[in-house]
Amino acid sequence: MIEKYQHQFARFFGAERAFAFWKGRVALYALLRALDVGPGDEVILPGYTCVMNVNPIKYVGARPVYVDIEPDTFNMNVNLLEEKITSKTKVIIAQHTYGYPCEMDAIMKIAQNSGICVIEDCCLALGSKYKGRIVGTFGRAGYFSSQWNKPYTTGLGGMVITSDRELAERIESLAENEMCPPSGREVFMLRMQLIIYRLFIYPRTTALAQSLFRYLTLKGAVVGSSSTSEYEPEKAADFFKAMSTVQARSGIRQFDKIDENITHRRKMAQLYDELLAAKDWKPSKDSRDSAEPVLVRYPVRIAEKNEALAQAAKAGIELGSWFECPLHPIETPLSSYDYEPGMCPEAEKAGRQVVNLPLHPRANERTAVKTVKFITGFTPS
Ligand SMILES: Cc1ncc(COP(=O)(O)O)c(C=O)c1O
Repeated sequence: MIEKYQHQFARFFGAERAFAFWKGRVALYALLRALDVGPGDEVILPGYTCVMNVNPIKYVGARPVYVDIEPDTFNMNVNLLEEKITSKTKVIIAQHTYGYPCEMDAIMKIAQNSGICVIEDCCLALGSKYKGRIVGTFGRAGYFSSQWNKPYTTGLGGMVITSDRELAERIESLAENEMCPPSGREVFMLRMQLIIYRLFIYPRTTALAQSLFRYLTLKGAVVGSSSTSEYEPEKAADFFKAMSTVQARSGIRQFDKIDENITHRRKMAQLYDELLAAKDWKPSKDSRDSAEPVLVRYPVRIAEKNEALAQAAKAGIELGSWFECPLHPIETPLSSYDYEPGMCPEAEKAGRQVVNLPLHPRANERTAVKTVKFITGFTPS
């Protein structure tokens, strides 16, 4: 089942190989290990990400170096990239935030000139294209997530794609020698959570379900995407975990419908553009001719974000809060992750202002109309 899923995934991207993992962060960990990133090395990434994406860098003993974002696309500002490169820089992570493709020409050029490897974080960008080419295929490898909030969901899940044979062999050997299987309890719980998700989670019930899920995760009653120990850069003994057949089966089913999913996301994003423009709001549009984004969520800047989130939850409107700060979530002890306040001012501003609107397959025209009505009618008290 897992091999079938890997083949299907690789074929979609025209990549030679795909490797499945328990989570997206585990996929990044495998990649960094296979690239021989370790103590003394630096890894560059945008200072507007999820802390779980930084943990693998710390786990291999390297130092994360943050580049501020460009305010329209929320991606790494390539004008600030060169000054962050040192003799220790080993990898640049091009994260395609919300689905907006990074400026890959500029990133690849800077990296090639300095002999640095580029990998692409496609966890929020499945199907986005830059200059007609799908993201994930520019760098030496791309990695993906199919966690609850991602372009499609297998509950938890991660994947690496690469067409670099040497790298593929190294990932394969690491997986064979070091990767552990998930426990029977974890797989059982995940299966139950997937059933509950399919039956009960809709835009109306999402906010309530998320709060309940976070509470149960803290109590250890469900297989959450992040345990409390993952908010500190210490690697758990069983972190390097394989994908289960439950995830692979779900992935195959979802991937069979991936074109439908992509078309739906594009239509919904266009609908938000139109509905917001009709209310004289600035739509979240990528004006670059080079970009064909497939958004995972639709980002909007709003005044008094926290109050908007609280009111939305009460009104049954599904608003996302990520990213809440440079290394989401807000509880992250930033200094443990080599981030000093003020390092990435645009990212910090976005963290205070941006909420995101649903585009997933369960959101429809009615969801969009209700959400835009809430956003444009929202007045802070
Ligand atoms: C941009 C980004 N990359 C990577 C990850 C890690 O993915 P996963 O939750 O599957 O480990 C996340 C997590 O939410 C993310 O937002």
